[in-house]
Amino acid sequence: MDLTSTDMEQVLAAATRTVREEHGDVPLPVQGELPAAIDGCYFRNGPGRFERGGQRYRHPFDGDGHITKLDLRAGQVRYSNRFVRTCEYLEEERSGRMRYRAFGTNLPGGLPANLFRLNFKNAANTSVRWHAGRLLALWEGGPPHRLDPATLANLGTEEFGGGLASPFSGLGRWLAPLLPFSAHPTLDAASGELHNFGLVSGRPNLLMLYRIGADGRMEAPEQHALERFSFLHDFAITRRWRCFLLPYADFDLTRALLGLKTPVGSLRLETDRPMQVLLLPRGETSAAQGPIVLSGPPGFVFHVAQAFDDGRHLVLDVIRFGRYPDFDAFDELLRNPPDGVVPRLERLLIDPAAGRCERLSLGPEVDDHAFELPVSAPTALGERQRILYGVGAPPDRRTPFLTSIQRLDTETGRLTTRDFGLDLVGEPMLVPDDDGGEGWLLSLVFRAGTGGTDLVVLRAADLSLQATATLPHAVPVGFHGCWVPRCELDRGHGV
Ligand SMILES: [Fe+2]
Repeated sequence: MDLTSTDMEQVLAAATRTVREEHGDVPLPVQGELPAAIDGCYFRNGPGRFERGGQRYRHPFDGDGHITKLDLRAGQVRYSNRFVRTCEYLEEERSGRMRYRAFGTNLPGGLPANLFRLNFKNAANTSVRWHAGRLLALWEGGPPHRLDPATLANLGTEEFGGGLASPFSGLGRWLAPLLPFSAHPTLDAASGELHNFGLVSGRPNLLMLYRIGADGRMEAPEQHALERFSFLHDFAITRRWRCFLLPYADFDLTRALLGLKTPVGSLRLETDRPMQVLLLPRGETSAAQGPIVLSGPPGFVFHVAQAFDDGRHLVLDVIRFGRYPDFDAFDELLRNPPDGVVPRLERLLIDPAAGRCERLSLGPEVDDHAFELPVSAPTALGERQRILYGVGAPPDRRTPFLTSIQRLDTETGRLTTRDFGLDLVGEPMLVPDDDGGEGWLLSLVFRAGTGGTDLVVLRAADLSLQATATLPHAVPVGFHGCWVPRCELDRGHGV
């Protein structure tokens, strides 16, 4: 299909319209056959409101968090959706205008309206995860919000029994009484522990490191001081290492705090310089080894697809951009994407003892394709995964990398793709098959033709179509989510 950037601009404009309706547990028409083995709930988060009081957010990632829930049982699908009713959201709803600065959007009214306005909105829009009987809406700049899995009602910020209380004093604590909790925690499927980090800007810049037991209790966070400011979205963890890929970045804190620029506009990433690879040892390694810093490839990594230990090496499969995509200039990014602003899946072979990081190809097919929003089966921490799934696009399509669902066999390099043309696909979520099959992939697909959204269910092994369910309204292109089997939901009830 020959697609022009104008075609795609129109589709993207339609796919980033504010959601005006909320539904509670309504049945959806299903085409095809849903296996009874798909029994549980798919939750997904993403921006759902893109303007307030006639002012559109300047950055696509500033939209208010909007949760969709697809409840699949006995071949049927029921649908619910709800905005995350944070304090900021409710306040803006009541007043009918923007009252908070966002990371990419200042308040209308220029300098006077933004000067010393240091209270930023927690958009609660990046991911939704299930752990220890809790459903959490995540946003990397602040604490999670706990949701009722039945109704999606906001039950308040999740502080993990005081674990996220700021240990700092003075201005830092006043500005942020709760620590940030990234939107990319890693679950150890063997122990039930959840690992995560938060990035605290200051002097020094700090990495906060979190571990939450299967019982939901958070240990006292660890702190690691960084040599300089950086920006992080995801991390890697194995039994031996925690690994952070730190781009060379500067942040104009004064201008951001004075309201002269947005926080995103104050960020400068030098992606032609090598990323710093920070390795923090864990387990047995930590007794004999301190932190290691070594030089990585240039560019920027939003997402880590998997990490595992292989002999002396730490292996990371990452999605690397050659250059940081300037989402502030989203239309231009779409119209004329610069070279290097295509996400590529590749392997980093890290030798901590030798202080080396080597880039490896995962095969010529995946080298030619964009790859983002990586997903794999739930595993024990650091267990190697052969199959990775994600979104992408055909090599010749100079449009967003959200029009195909892809499956990569990392051992053979074989890439299987299912292309949706002008339709925009969401993160494919794996539903494992307890009977030994590869399972199914769920994705919310925005249909260019109808302007609506479908839940598409594919067989994971070959990406063939299993079933489709049509939602009652369009859901904007979103970010991350989770699959929660019925037995987990039942266990979590009342926690
Ligand atoms: Fe992400």
